[in-house]
Amino acid sequence: MTEAVLLVGGQGTRLRPLTINTPKPMLPVAGVPFTVHQILRARDAGVTRIVLSTSYKAEVFREFIEGSDLGIEIVIATEPEPLGTGGAIRFAAAHLNSAPDDSVLIFNGDVLSGVDIQGLVKHHEDSNSDVTLYLTPVEDPRAYGLVPTDQHGRVTAFLEKPTSLEGIVTNNINAGCYVFRRDVIDRIPEGRVVSVERETFPELLATGALVSGVVDSGYWLDLGTPLAFVQGSRDLVLGHAPSPAVGTHGDALAMEGAFIADSAHVHGGSVIGRNASVDSDAVVDGAVVFDKARILAGAHVRNSIIGEGAVVGVGSHLDGVVVGDAAVIGAGNELQKGVRVWPGAVIGDLTIRFSSDG
Ligand code: GDD
Ligand code: MG
Repeated sequence: MTEAVLLVGGQGTRLRPLTINTPKPMLPVAGVPFTVHQILRARDAGVTRIVLSTSYKAEVFREFIEGSDLGIEIVIATEPEPLGTGGAIRFAAAHLNSAPDDSVLIFNGDVLSGVDIQGLVKHHEDSNSDVTLYLTPVEDPRAYGLVPTDQHGRVTAFLEKPTSLEGIVTNNINAGCYVFRRDVIDRIPEGRVVSVERETFPELLATGALVSGVVDSGYWLDLGTPLAFVQGSRDLVLGHAPSPAVGTHGDALAMEGAFIADSAHVHGGSVIGRNASVDSDAVVDGAVVFDKARILAGAHVRNSIIGEGAVVGVGSHLDGVVVGDAAVIGAGNELQKGVRVWPGAVIGDLTIRFSSDG
């Protein structure tokens, strides 16, 4: 039996306004809450019990887990206040059944990857490591935890989001999945905020613990930003990213009750949510349209996220935009990369403004 802790308590600040009502791991990606992709991958790798480590909007997870059967035992741990990644792991440990020598998997709750979970646990146990980290090479590592290793795969340092050039010592980053020997978790200080990246890992290294790194250059994506979020959804729909939660792959995914007009063009791995609609001559390309949203005639929506019940007006063009739940974009608007429309906001018709001007 293998247990895992899934860290899902972060605020998802970079995905605001979508995360105002819904925590990041519960946002729909390729038709199901993102967390389901991770839970099913863990289940299929032999994990039999998961502790969901929640904080922000814990009730949204609770309600979902109580109403679903994912074929794996799920226990919810909710911190009284956010304890950081290390504090959260320590807090969740009270819910683990594992013995001191057992291997426990830890997952960041916003990473989509094809990592060989069983292989990681095997490496950890064969090498008799205290902790084993899954590492992946990225072009620009500055936004992540940098993890250099020696020729034996032993981690030599842990540099979380270095701000100086001297900190850029490797392209291999912490890919957000670890194996801990259970008694190492029990030594994390209890009841206070601890960052596993800034405190626990550097301390383990300083005290001579055996921390191993396994580099895997397969599919990896942190869904922390809007563009990464749509990319993850797109990659799942197209079949570029692995998940047991996606049955068949194709150019687009239309959920139950979605309406797509014959003359509309929905492609590029887009998802059209439940009871959402795409009207005539509209184009939806590599976008995520949440449930009950409406893309009106002739609108173009690319690389964007359209919140639940939101409306994109006739002929409007959106590229790289996040539209909050129930917001309304009037006709004829052009919104470009980086624009975020708050839930319920209304942007008027551009065409009507022009015509009334004169
Ligand atoms: N329960 C709980 N409590 N969970 C938390 C808390 C907390 O106080 N703080 C963060 N988390 C969860 C988040 O929900 C997320 O799933 C995970 O911990 C990591 O937090 P992020 O906020 O997503 O961190 P990051 O993306 O900036 O950096 C982390 O991930 C990178 C890889 O994606 C670090 O682990 C980096 O070292 C790593 O490279
Ligand atoms: Mg992250």
